Amino acid sequence: MVKNFPKNFLWGSATSSYQVEGGIENNDWASCCDPKLQWASLQNFAMMPIVGGVPCAGRATDHYNLYEKDFDIAKKLNHNAHRFSIEWSRIEPEEGKFDEKEIEHYRKVLQALRDRGIEPFVTLWHFTLPTWFAKIGGFENPKAPEIFARYCGFVVGRLAASAKAMASQEGTGAKFWMTINEPMVYASKSYLKGVWPPFKRNFFAFKKVIKTLISSHLASHNMIKKINPELQVGIAKNNIYTKTNWNPLNQIICQTFNWFWNLRFLNAITGFQDFIGLNYYHHFAPGIKEDLEKTEYMNWEIYPKGIYHLLRDLKRYNLPIYITENGLADAKDTKREKFIKDHLRWVWQAIQDGVDVRGYFYWSLLDNFEWTDGFGPRFGLVEIDYETMERKIRPSAWEYAEICKNNQIVEFNDK
Ligand code: BGC
Repeated sequence: MVKNFPKNFLWGSATSSYQVEGGIENNDWASCCDPKLQWASLQNFAMMPIVGGVPCAGRATDHYNLYEKDFDIAKKLNHNAHRFSIEWSRIEPEEGKFDEKEIEHYRKVLQALRDRGIEPFVTLWHFTLPTWFAKIGGFENPKAPEIFARYCGFVVGRLAASAKAMASQEGTGAKFWMTINEPMVYASKSYLKGVWPPFKRNFFAFKKVIKTLISSHLASHNMIKKINPELQVGIAKNNIYTKTNWNPLNQIICQTFNWFWNLRFLNAITGFQDFIGLNYYHHFAPGIKEDLEKTEYMNWEIYPKGIYHLLRDLKRYNLPIYITENGLADAKDTKREKFIKDHLRWVWQAIQDGVDVRGYFYWSLLDNFEWTDGFGPRFGLVEIDYETMERKIRPSAWEYAEICKNNQIVEFNDK
């Protein structure tokens, strides 16, 4: 059966600066990276025991230099939207000193997308902190909201969409701005599990950072709206669908988790966002044993229907929703096509049930630096040869390209 998506639906993929650009040396990840961990993770392909260090991103995929080539690929794959992030440490290498050359770089990146008819979605902060900001406590510093909003104001002031771009897909600059990527993931990995810089395991610091991230979103939202109230502002929120059995204890765990992980941040910024970016990867089902297929990375159970439940639940905010990340690591590309189609089938169902979903960004356009797991996991629609930097489009990318072109899925089992 053919399932059509709404007119003007956005189709694309996502990346983030530190994971693809290469040559970033002035942030918290680069300053504690250890080349030995990178090679170890390439061989082991598994979560590393963390000892206050992380793998090095080095030249990553060299996207900083090869972005035009990569956007040619995105265009060839019929993408009409693309999500990427700006590297804060490039723009503000020292506190209060802004680098116009780097602004110029991102202006060209935006133009390269527009020239190809691709709508840019820009994330202002995707996990990595400039070294100077990390040194003054990062998001533990009570002044962080002010500091972050100043950076956001500077970037948006320079790169906001022109009047023409606001009205159509032409013109210059970006109209969709995402202040923060996955605040809960960042806070828990960096301050609760202690596996990302600054490697803390402290519940009070964890709570404080969440609060500061909320204030940072609010401050930067206001700053962006001052520049142009019509710019569209949101965050990318990682939500995990929870389900469980009859056990009352499990039910309490799930309800608490759902409130704390999925809703609390969004509740706190209600009225201060124009759209919701949903990042969905997996579900959490204590007490339930199902024989579900798993991803090769992290052993995440693949549960496409979870995206439907989350979308239905997000309807409570009455805002447009974009799926800003959804994907899996699949080096052999044997599961990706089905993964994408199965998730889209449930996105389509949510739309039929009245949820205002307006776009889907697969994570990721390119294989990239997967944080503590280095370059092992392969999330890309496009395979990277890290020796030669050669790009090779995976077969599943062509299947996704058909969906993008036709604005429809043909149900997997029908084919
Ligand atoms: C993050 C990405 C990451 C992806 C896959 C998301 O949580 O935003 O940076 O690569 O998950 O793990």
